[in-house]
Amino acid sequence: MSSDAPAVAVVGATGAAGGTLLRVLQERSFPAAELRLLASPRSDGAEVVFGAQRLTVRQVSDERLRGVDIAFFAAGALTSRRHAPEVAAGGGVAVDKSSAFRLDPEVPLVVPEVNAVALQRHRGIVANPNCVAIPLTIALAPLQRAFGLRQVTLATYQAASGAGRDLVAELAAQEREAAAGREPRATVYPHVLQGNVVPGGWAMRGEDTDEEVKVIAETRRVLDLPELAMSVTTVRVPVAVGHSAAVFVELQRQASAEEARDAFRDGPGVRLVDEPGEQRYPTPRDAAGGDDVLVGRVRADPGREHGIAFFFSADNLRKGAATNAVQVAELLLAG
Ligand SMILES: NC(=O)c1ccc[n+]([C@@H]2O[C@H](COP(=O)([O-])OP(=O)(O)OC[C@H]3O[C@@H](n4cnc5c(N)ncnc54)[C@H](OP(=O)(O)O)[C@@H]3O)[C@@H](O)[C@H]2O)c1
Repeated sequence: MSSDAPAVAVVGATGAAGGTLLRVLQERSFPAAELRLLASPRSDGAEVVFGAQRLTVRQVSDERLRGVDIAFFAAGALTSRRHAPEVAAGGGVAVDKSSAFRLDPEVPLVVPEVNAVALQRHRGIVANPNCVAIPLTIALAPLQRAFGLRQVTLATYQAASGAGRDLVAELAAQEREAAAGREPRATVYPHVLQGNVVPGGWAMRGEDTDEEVKVIAETRRVLDLPELAMSVTTVRVPVAVGHSAAVFVELQRQASAEEARDAFRDGPGVRLVDEPGEQRYPTPRDAAGGDDVLVGRVRADPGREHGIAFFFSADNLRKGAATNAVQVAELLLAG
């Protein structure tokens, strides 16, 4: 691909991740000779504001992706499976936010701060990890480099927007209902999220949620640690934007909490927020709207050998989705 301004498409431009992607493209002045906004037939003809322009959304088709240099896919795995190979066959690159190709050995799974080198072997499709695996690998990579990783345990606190725009709208409606003294109802999610914490809502794969299986497989792949021992419980919480997790790590070598903090300070994409005595630590509210993975509550974990515990928060729609994809595209353009 030449470094001349590319023709760009955003598939899923009307969704939570796609809408954020449009904002991030604008903020970062991503060079685009042309921008095609695509979605399902439901949105054909809808208008979306992009800077000073009003752009019309069209139904995605191979025809409308023809001649595109970079196509961002944020419209679910089925749409990516159907159309991303066509983009690659036409000489463009599909930067995919869905789960369709994340475990395909022919497709690199890239977090630029962690494994940008993997991009070099792309063949027209680049996968992005899910919105927990991205901040988790950014937080773990400095510990991996400095001390080695032996085992990772985490429980997540995942925002409604991770499940898309419909759950954001449902949570907002439930909050209004509860404030008016009425009983909130759930139709999008299996439980009312307002005033609740839900350790499910994903499809199940045996006794694990699909999300737990993804986080483990994708984290291992990005860190290039296929045997890393991991235990994950994924939980949905009544927060609009910002995924968090409590993480417990067994390192290969002993490290003090201060040494772990030093590693986090040097970690690309990490911002250490760790003055708990001053009530400063990561929260999804502070992470939302930014691209940093906030890391704090760093401490020795006496429950395991060479143990370190920490907490992170990150914006699932930005670094967990849009920003990561745009960074990948920037690296592709830089050649
Ligand atoms: N939300 C996150 O935090 C996040 C993070 C990482 C990755 N992702 C991934 O991003 C993708 C979208 O998630 P989301 O949360 O943004 O969902 P969403 O808010 O529900 O938006 C879905 C988008 O996909 C489009 N779409 C649905 N079916 C389609 C079809 N058959 N053909 C073309 N477009 C179709 C929708 O278009 P219409 O408006 O026409 O219905 C809409 O633009 C998923 O693959 C998800 O795994 C999301």
